[in-house]
Amino acid sequence: MFGGKGGLGKTTFSAATAYYLAKMGKKVLVFSVDPQASLSDIFKQDIFGKGATEIMPNLYAQEIDADRRVKEYQQEIRQKIFDMYGFDKIPDEIESYIQAAGAEPAMEESAIFDEVVDIVVKGGYDYYIYDLVPLGHALYYLSMASVYDAWIDKITGLRQQMREYDQVAAVIKREKEIDEDAILNELLYIKERINKSSGILTDKEKTAFFFVVTPEDMIIKDTQKAAELFAKFDVPLSGYVVNRVLPPELKEQNIPEYLKNRMAMQTHYLDVINNTFKGEIRAFVPEMERDVTGLPMIEKMAKAMFGDF
Ligand SMILES: Nc1ncnc2c1ncn2[C@@H]1O[C@H](COP(=O)(O)OP(=O)(O)OP(=O)(O)O)[C@@H](O)[C@H]1O
Ligand SMILES: [Mg+2]
Repeated sequence: MFGGKGGLGKTTFSAATAYYLAKMGKKVLVFSVDPQASLSDIFKQDIFGKGATEIMPNLYAQEIDADRRVKEYQQEIRQKIFDMYGFDKIPDEIESYIQAAGAEPAMEESAIFDEVVDIVVKGGYDYYIYDLVPLGHALYYLSMASVYDAWIDKITGLRQQMREYDQVAAVIKREKEIDEDAILNELLYIKERINKSSGILTDKEKTAFFFVVTPEDMIIKDTQKAAELFAKFDVPLSGYVVNRVLPPELKEQNIPEYLKNRMAMQTHYLDVINNTFKGEIRAFVPEMERDVTGLPMIEKMAKAMFGDF
């Protein structure tokens, strides 16, 4: 996983890492839940909402379309109502309730969470690269696993108790034992999926979380705070990748005052980064001559991150 504040290079590093691993012969899926479709932009291919799409041999990319997933949920709910009550049309009050629920931010978040769990639990790749949304949000998704888990525990517990009462009542009334509780089973199924996926996300052997940081005051400070929060959620922090470092060889050239000042500023904040994230810096990545889109630039970025291959 690559995390960090907005616009620092998460998508760029995700794509470049996926490219590198694919070139090393690993089957890789790079995916995001970003509605901005930034993987489509970087690979110059429209993959939004199209499932895992092959970009080149071994390299697959996927962008989750949360809106569509919400619509599918709404349809599932309608279908359940048809099946359970035998209506031929959803009553108006219920339809407006379904519409309102679809506009809930929580519904979209749960749809996204559900798809991510699907991807991770399904398997089929050697590596998964999760191109995260900016920090605050990413933390929210990660924390959802534990929130969901606590919530489901509670409901499952209640459900189990109710079922026992029902069975006692049934025995007293000498009725046959009640059918399996469909809702309880559904909850247990969701719980198992959450446990499995959050187990993978927090597994230090299998998962690595990298922070992207740039040599700037505010960004260093915010990253430090975020790292403390992430650690609380047992996210396996694996280090920092420093982006947009002005190439030091510029110093030997005749450069304008403006650039000299920028370089002096960076030199100072690179020192701060070295002191703050001592021993945990995985790479310094230069500012490139242009933005990173298309496979040739992605390859250049991968070589800057991993060395020549
Ligand atoms: N080292 C670099 N040199 C030149 N351009 C870069 C470099 N790193 C990133 N960029 C460019 O900066 C922009 C932002 O990068 P990117 O989209 O990877 O950030 P992000 O962290 O994913 O942003 P968001 O928070 O919006 O998801 C892109 O246009 C990308 O091409
Ligand atoms: Mg991005």
